[in-house]
Amino acid sequence: MKNPLAAWLTPDAPVVEPATRHDLAALAQLHGASFHRGWGEGEFDAMLREPNTLVHRLRRGGKVIGFAVSRMAADEAEILSIAVAAKERGRGLSRDLLATHLGHLAGRGVRTVFLEVEENNQPATRLYAKTGFAVVGRRERYYREAGGEERNALVMRRDLS
Ligand SMILES: CC(C)(COP(=O)(O)OP(=O)(O)OC[C@H]1O[C@@H](n2cnc3c(N)ncnc32)[C@H](O)[C@@H]1OP(=O)(O)O)[C@@H](O)C(=O)NCCC(=O)NCCS
Repeated sequence: MKNPLAAWLTPDAPVVEPATRHDLAALAQLHGASFHRGWGEGEFDAMLREPNTLVHRLRRGGKVIGFAVSRMAADEAEILSIAVAAKERGRGLSRDLLATHLGHLAGRGVRTVFLEVEENNQPATRLYAKTGFAVVGRRERYYREAGGEERNALVMRRDLS
């Protein structure tokens, strides 16, 4: 939802905005619920303070229901993390979140975006394929699950123009 008038007319529609320090607890909670190794409030705080790191929140009403985090270096960026709250998944919300996030990266002069994704993570790989990312590499046994299982990572790339 990028149109402010539409957001005003439908106040419950999700909006994508820069995250702030007021979101630290919500971001850490959401990250911890979405990933095996959760990031704490301190890690998000440090990222919000770093000028080369971009953190967006997906907000519905007063609640943070998603986030996207990237780190920029010269004209490249890496998506470090993206998640949508479990109850809100499967409704296409991540596409708006990612599209807005990529738009801001482009606005900061980023021309190429990379990311790593576990190859069996179907919602994420489908999201990335739909938003124009292509597989450019594969890392064997890159992730270790909580139970010790090792999983491969795909490296994906998208050029912004
Ligand atoms: C990845 C994630 C952000 C996607 O958010 P979302 O808002 O649920 O995504 P969408 O509703 O836009 O769905 C994305 C695609 O996955 C598909 N999908 C959704 N749930 C699925 C499931 N359980 N199994 C297989 N595909 C699924 C959707 O159909 C859609 O594909 P399509 O556009 O080809 O139909 C969300 O699942 C999440 O937070 N996962 C946990 C954290 C994570 O894995 N992040 C990515 C790390 S790289």
